[in-house]
Amino acid sequence: VNRVTVPTSYQDLAPCTGQLLHRHYAQPTEAETAVWNQVSAVLEEAHGILAELQSYNGAGQEIREAIQNPGDLQLQEKAWNAVCPLVAKLKRFYEFSLRLENALRSLLEALTSPPYAPMQHLEREQALAKQFAEILHFTLSFDELKMTNPAIQNDFSYYRRTISRNRLNNQQLEAENEVNNEMANRMSLFYAEATPMLKTLSNATTKFVSENKTLPIEDTTDCLSTMACVCRVMLETPEYRCRFTNTDTMLFCMRVMVGVIILYDHVHPVGAFAKTSKIDMKGCIKVLKDQPSNSVEGLLNALRYTTRHLNDDSTSKQIRALLQ
Ligand SMILES: *[C@@H]1O[C@H](CO)[C@@H](O)[C@H](O)[C@H]1NC(C)=O
Ligand SMILES: *[C@@H]1O[C@H](CO)[C@@H](O)[C@H](O)[C@H]1NC(C)=O
Repeated sequence: VNRVTVPTSYQDLAPCTGQLLHRHYAQPTEAETAVWNQVSAVLEEAHGILAELQSYNGAGQEIREAIQNPGDLQLQEKAWNAVCPLVAKLKRFYEFSLRLENALRSLLEALTSPPYAPMQHLEREQALAKQFAEILHFTLSFDELKMTNPAIQNDFSYYRRTISRNRLNNQQLEAENEVNNEMANRMSLFYAEATPMLKTLSNATTKFVSENKTLPIEDTTDCLSTMACVCRVMLETPEYRCRFTNTDTMLFCMRVMVGVIILYDHVHPVGAFAKTSKIDMKGCIKVLKDQPSNSVEGLLNALRYTTRHLNDDSTSKQIRALLQ
């Protein structure tokens, strides 16, 4: 594999940042088209999924009333009728995570295929790199919304309790056809995660790396560290920053950076915080803290609580202190 050095300056990055910077513009080359179309079909749904999650209000009140009045059948029915469509929504989100996982897989395959080095891939396949960034952006946005919405787990556990109670009474519920027991088990594992989408992606990346024995693990982690570097340099370089026409683009860049760091930390044997890490964690954390955005704290929390190696002995005191 032809390894080129990881970019450190604005000039190094010039060839590959164009597309990442322009959120709404990324034309695939002919060689990228097949994968691009596949991923594009998934990404087209992402916006709708986020909107649905954002407006997810839950059936907290109906559930409370039903629980407080166990003898009132009308209230039981009301809660059940409120919860069922919500569970159908949760199933849609979960199924979407499986499609996202497949999309990520195709992108990883394309962006790590020999003989090119990560930087060359990012230059040659800018539209795919951009889609990868879009996936991470979606993922962090989804998890942020999920984390701040306790109704999701509340609704889902009420649903499961009701189903098992009725099963004990030998009552078959119609809704079981939609979410059968096996599906409910899988969904429940998914929603039990603090950051379910990110966990899905990091599991998928780990799986990708372990299944492709012929592909050195560095090919995948170098792709991630290079993307982290691209984002960091874009955020800390005034020449780029002044081109961020709105905070939306800045937030995009911040989320992508945090997303690739977390993936790297899950996939790389010693993780992102070690001295040997190819990600400049100090620089990344500093540049995050410098951003005038109220999403910074959430992103720092993602680094604090969803990485694997932060608390390892190999993490420097300085990095720990920065995240405290
Ligand atoms: C990720 O993998 C772990 C270990 O295999 C598993 O327990 C967990 O449920 C998976 N999470 C998701 C969201 O796929
Ligand atoms: C990775 O493994 C999958 C499944 O075994 C295979 O289809 C794919 O071509 C492999 N990709 C690379 C880059 O080796």
